[in-house]
Amino acid sequence: MITLGIETSCDETACALVEDGRKILASQVASQIKFHRRFMGVVPEIASRQHVRLLQPVLERALAKARLRLKDCDLISVTNGPGLAGALMVGVTMAKSLAQATGIPIVGVNHLKAHLEPCFLNGGQRALKFPFIGLVVSGGHTALVKARAVDLYELIAETRDDAAGEAFDKAAKILGLGFPGGPRIERWAGKGDPGRVRLPNLSSDLGLDFSYSGLKTAVLYYAKKHGLAADKRRAGKVQHVRDLCAAFQKTVVMSLVTRAVAACALRRVPRLAVGGGVAANRALERSLAEACNERGIKLFYPRREHTTDNAVMVALRGFRLFKERGPDALDLACDPALAFCGEG
Ligand code: KG4
Ligand code: ZN
Repeated sequence: MITLGIETSCDETACALVEDGRKILASQVASQIKFHRRFMGVVPEIASRQHVRLLQPVLERALAKARLRLKDCDLISVTNGPGLAGALMVGVTMAKSLAQATGIPIVGVNHLKAHLEPCFLNGGQRALKFPFIGLVVSGGHTALVKARAVDLYELIAETRDDAAGEAFDKAAKILGLGFPGGPRIERWAGKGDPGRVRLPNLSSDLGLDFSYSGLKTAVLYYAKKHGLAADKRRAGKVQHVRDLCAAFQKTVVMSLVTRAVAACALRRVPRLAVGGGVAANRALERSLAEACNERGIKLFYPRREHTTDNAVMVALRGFRLFKERGPDALDLACDPALAFCGEG
C-alpha cells in the first residue's frame, strides 16, 4: 500500500511516498528559508505563496523519484493542523483536489503526533511500541505526551510561553547569528565553554512544564551588558559569543532532558520517542542518550533528515490512522490551532 504524504504547515513544502508504512520510496522537501531569512522569522503570507508555487513541482519530483504515478497511490495523507492557516490550506486543498479527481482516500494528520512517527522506523524487532513518552521540540511547540495507542495521546506538559526552537531562533537573532537559529547556535556553541557564562537554570517550579521567555530575556541583557548584541557587538568578542551560545544550549538541553526522563519515571514508561526540529541538535541527542542509558529508558531517536518538517512523517501517521479507523471525508478542514491530543 503506497501512501502519499503532503506537508505544508509552516515553511517547508514537502511530499513523500512511503510503502506499507515502512519503506520510504521518495522524500522531497523544498525549504523556503531563503525567502524568510531577511525577516529573521517565517512570514505567513510569504509561506502560503511559496507553497502554492512549490507544491506541484515537489509532488512531481517525489513521484518521479519513486518511479510512480499518482494513480499508483492508495492513500493521500496531509497535515491539516496545527500550523499557519494559509499554509495548511494549500496542502489540504491540493490533497482534497487530488482525492476528488482520482477517488484515492484521504486522511488528515496532526503535525505534532506526526513528528514522533519517524521513531517507529528503526529498531527492527526492538522497534518502538505503545505506550511511550513522546517529546516534541519544534519551532512552534514544546511538549511531552504519553502515547497510549494510535489515537490516544495524553498531554503531560507543554511550554507556558516560547517553544524551545523559538528560543534558539530568538537568541540567535539577538546575537545576529542568522536564521534559523538552532543550527547556528549549535555551531557557535561547539567552540564555546558553557562554564564561562552564568544563565538562570530552568529547573523551575512549573512541574514538568517548560518556559523559555525568561532565558531569552537573560540572553538579551547579558548580550547588551557585555557588548555581544548584534547591533552593538564590540570587537574581539567572538569567543565570548561562543561561550554564551554554549551556556544557552546547555541550559535548554538540560531543561528538556530532565523533564523527559522525569516524565518516563513518573508514568512508569521506559520508552522515550523524540521529534521536531530541535531534535536535530547533537548536544540534545547525546544528553538524552546518556540520561536514558543511566535510567534504563530505551530512547527512540529519528534520523536527522526526519527531525525538521518533512512529509515522510505525515505519510507514516496517515497510514497508521487509516489502518485504525479508515479515511476522512472529502470536506476535511484545516485546524490551525489543533491540539497535540486533538484529532489526527
Ligand atoms: O519541526 P520544525 O522543522 O518546524 C516546526 O514544526 O516548527 O522545527 C524548526 C525549529 C526551528 O526553531 C529551528 O531553529 C530548530 O527547529 N532547529 C534546531 C536545530 N535545527 C533546527 N534547534 C537546535 N539545534 C538544531 N541543530
Ligand atoms: Zn514541525
